This record gives sequence, C-alpha cells and structure tokens, in this order.
Amino acid sequence: MITVFGSINLDLVVCLPRLPVPGETVVGPDHQTFAGGKGANQALAAARAGASVRMVGAVGRDAHSAPALANLDLAGVDLSAVRHLEGTTGLAMIGIDAEGENLIMCASGVNARVAADWLDGVLEPDDLLVLQRELSADPISGAIARARKVGARVLLNAAPSGDAALAGLIGDVDVLVANAVEAAELAGAFGCPGAEGAEVHCAALCGNSRLAVVTLGGDGLVARTAERIWRVAAPRIEVLDTTGAGDAFVGALAAALDRGADISRALAEGTAAGALACTATGAQSSSPDAGAIAELADTLVVETAPVTR
Ligand code: RIB
Repeated sequence: MITVFGSINLDLVVCLPRLPVPGETVVGPDHQTFAGGKGANQALAAARAGASVRMVGAVGRDAHSAPALANLDLAGVDLSAVRHLEGTTGLAMIGIDAEGENLIMCASGVNARVAADWLDGVLEPDDLLVLQRELSADPISGAIARARKVGARVLLNAAPSGDAALAGLIGDVDVLVANAVEAAELAGAFGCPGAEGAEVHCAALCGNSRLAVVTLGGDGLVARTAERIWRVAAPRIEVLDTTGAGDAFVGALAAALDRGADISRALAEGTAAGALACTATGAQSSSPDAGAIAELADTLVVETAPVTR
C-alpha cells in the first residue's frame, strides 16, 4: 500500500498569453478550478496507476474542501486519515502560458498544521511512504523517522525546492526524486558545484543505498544507485500544461515500485505518466490511468549500465 503524507489544495488556474513579471498584471480569460496540492496529486496519480493508496493530510472546514478531495474519493483513495480542521483548505493560484509553463503561488492554509504523529497507527511495515515538501521540514522528518521505526520504505520528492533543509532529510530516504533545479541546489548542499550537471548531481545524491532520480522535463531523466545508472528519453508530446507533471511522475513511479516492478520499468512508467500529464490542463484531471501509462511506457527505451569507477 502507498501512504501519501502531504498537501491538499484547491487550484485556481488562469491561462495567459505569457506569465507576468513582478509588478505586472497579465489578463487571461475565465479561470478554472481544479483539485490540487502536490500530496493529493501524487496520491491520485498512484491510484490511477493502479496502486492502493491512503492519503494523510488536512483540509479546512470551508467550501474548498469537498472539491479538493473529490477526485481522490472517486479514485478510491482511503481518506480516513485526512483531517478536517478549522481554517482554510490550501489554495494555489496558477498561471499557465501559451507554452504550458506555469507560475504557482500557494497559500498553505491547514496544510501548515499537518503533524507527523497523524501517521501513528496508520503507517504499516509494507507501506511505501510518499512525501513531498509542501509541508514544513518538521512533519517531514517526523514522518521519515516513523517510517524507519515501522520498517516502511520512503520516497521523498524534493518539490517545490531543493533548499538546504532538504539535505538534512535525505539520510533515511530510499528513493529521492528531484528536478534538475532542485537536484543542483541539493547537491550544492553536499559540496557538489551547481555547474556540474544532472548526472554528477545524481551521483552526489544516491549515497550508498538510495535510488536518486533527476527529472529533466523534455529531456527525460537520469537515475542512479551506487551500482547502476539509468537514462530514459522523454516521449515527444504536445505540451498544454506542465502543472502536475512531476506529481504524475512520482505517483506512477511509486505505484510501480510498490507492486514490485524493477527500476527500469518503474522509471519508464513514471516518464510515461509525466509526459501524458502535460497533454491536458489541470494537475489531477490530466493524470493518466494504468492502461495509458503502460502503453506509452512500452515504447520507451531505458538505457542502463553498471557504474564504472
Ligand atoms: O505540483 C502542482 C501543484 O503544486 C498544484 O496542484 C498546486 O496545488 C501546487 O501545490
């Protein structure tokens, strides 16, 4: 089973001719409202990819809570550990430009009050605990400590930032997923210069026993353990909206690892899900199902080789 411990938001999305610079107003047509939040998006992506998923997090007692949870409910995600607190549901304001690139401003709301002890009695030894960083460092480090105690594996997604706080968190993490910017920031905290490039950053982040994955958008990904390296090229797709592509990647990767797929297949399925998620607007509405993921993953070439020293 996958336990996702993380943020739940409602996303207000405006498609714009271009993204504003500071101090500027750019006008778009009608806004759209979608369920979002990196935690919730990853939970939905894992469920759509075929995994059994429970979500641990919080929504407010407001009008946004029901739409924020609707897709998870529909996908059969166990929501019994989602708490309804006095306060506001997390809210993201998202602009998307004509190339599908986004700019996100986020109000944490009750996500800021999610606590690691909510996992007590919930997290089980066979679980894969999936974490992102829209919660603060304290609950995340508490969650990792609890996973270690019960014997659950941990997948940590660095998004939305590879800042120095993350460096203190990855010691007990089994799978680390970062984009190129996050990986460069984080590798810098380990003394590896930012200019070195994704493969070197990935090597700095895998340690002795971790799978480190650096996603490269349209250039695919590179991944490493101490013994092996993997490279996957991204499929060519028409990009409408990149919002949630990283979450779809993480959810599908987690689902594949949870069912025991080998790393090559799990990386191919994550890559396929991330690409398919760029072809529609909205972080969750674009999240593909297991059939679509498998069909595209079957076409991808995964290069893998032992690490040479
Ligand atoms: O990763 C995309 C997500 O980031 C959006 O759904 C938004 O809620 C923000 O959390």
